[in-house]
Amino acid sequence: MKLLIKGGRIIDPANGKDTTGDILVEDGKIKEIGQNIAAQADDTIDATGKLVVPGLIDIHVHLREPGLEAKETIATGTRAAARGGFTSVACMPNTKPVADNQAIIEFIKVRAAQTGVVNVYPIGAITKESKGQELAEIGDMKSVGAVALSDDGQPVMNSDVMRRAMEYAKMFDLPIISHSEDKDLVAEGVMNEGYMSTVLGLKGINRAAEEVMVARDIILSEITGCPVHIAHISTAGSVRLVKEAKNRGVKVTAEATPHHFTLTDQAVEGYNTATKVNPPLRTADDVAAIKAGLADGTIDIIATDHAPHTQEEKDVEYNYAPFGMVGLETVVGLVFKELIEPGILTLPEAIAKLTINPARLLRLEKGTLSQGADADITIIDPNHEETVIAEELASKGKNTPFTGWNLKGLPVATIVAGRVVMKDRKLLC
Ligand code: DOR
Repeated sequence: MKLLIKGGRIIDPANGKDTTGDILVEDGKIKEIGQNIAAQADDTIDATGKLVVPGLIDIHVHLREPGLEAKETIATGTRAAARGGFTSVACMPNTKPVADNQAIIEFIKVRAAQTGVVNVYPIGAITKESKGQELAEIGDMKSVGAVALSDDGQPVMNSDVMRRAMEYAKMFDLPIISHSEDKDLVAEGVMNEGYMSTVLGLKGINRAAEEVMVARDIILSEITGCPVHIAHISTAGSVRLVKEAKNRGVKVTAEATPHHFTLTDQAVEGYNTATKVNPPLRTADDVAAIKAGLADGTIDIIATDHAPHTQEEKDVEYNYAPFGMVGLETVVGLVFKELIEPGILTLPEAIAKLTINPARLLRLEKGTLSQGADADITIIDPNHEETVIAEELASKGKNTPFTGWNLKGLPVATIVAGRVVMKDRKLLC
């Protein structure tokens, strides 16, 4: 099976490549990259005027299977990924039961092979049931394919447990992904603590709840030598802490979500529960700091924290709604709107944060368009415009605050191991 992608702007940050040309795919691998490739192919895609980039990788996705299939399944979540331009996703362990042992990691891999349309990499829990008390079966999970450890959705409040987790994770060469949140400081908070929470009469979450834990996990990473990755960074203070630690040589990396570089707590006005997310939407100063952190390399990765919930769960008073919003299908358009068009990131810089940087963190042999690499490829049309309509998302979760937004710059083809799974914005499987 041969696929020829013709005449696109090929951007491959890992190889420092930004050139116009063709890519020939054969038997699921990249066979050749060059000018005017004349091979006979079974299928040809004209990519003139489009960007041809390594398949996007999202390291922070909630696929909800097993146990929470009303919110999302591996089948629907991976289809949402394909529509969003992603060829690989890493899924968080806060399923039911929690992915804290070999059997569940294996289950996820088997279900993904049976029902998924993009590559799925399970993240194992740090502690049993993500309760923060006893370490999970770290070695066993690694042996069947867990790519990182996280109690995402829950912090590891006990610092000694986190220290031991880092010591084990280092032995097994797994990064720890820190959901940095001090539960006591969060208390009953539902949105950022500040002017808007006062105006709206909602309980606030102070920025310290995040920053205290970012600082702690940097310190623990430093004493253990275990790489720590800060998930969904949301405050200017956290960006400053990561920057300062990186400058000292600490093995810390960080990700920002599209909502945290796009929206502020102003969006909560109107009490739309789609804006309820953890960590919460912050202030304009925080958004500016996140953008600056993306620009100067403090923040290595863009990840969605795609967190689908049912309409029934979200259709309640703000205080009672679960935290989380979907993100897979809107992130590329938001990267164009908020980061590329204003000149905060160049196209290659933005693509690196969606491809090679996440691949390196999880040690995946992915994220490049090198000859011989898996043919995971995304084609983006920088001129394609669409209005976000929640009901039309492929995800089961319709909980997006971006309904009605016009986005320009969207994926128009997603190719996984040489197989076209999305073309012209439509799923093919
Ligand atoms: O808003 C969030 N939702 N933040 C998290 O950390 C977890 C996620 C979820 O699982 O719904």
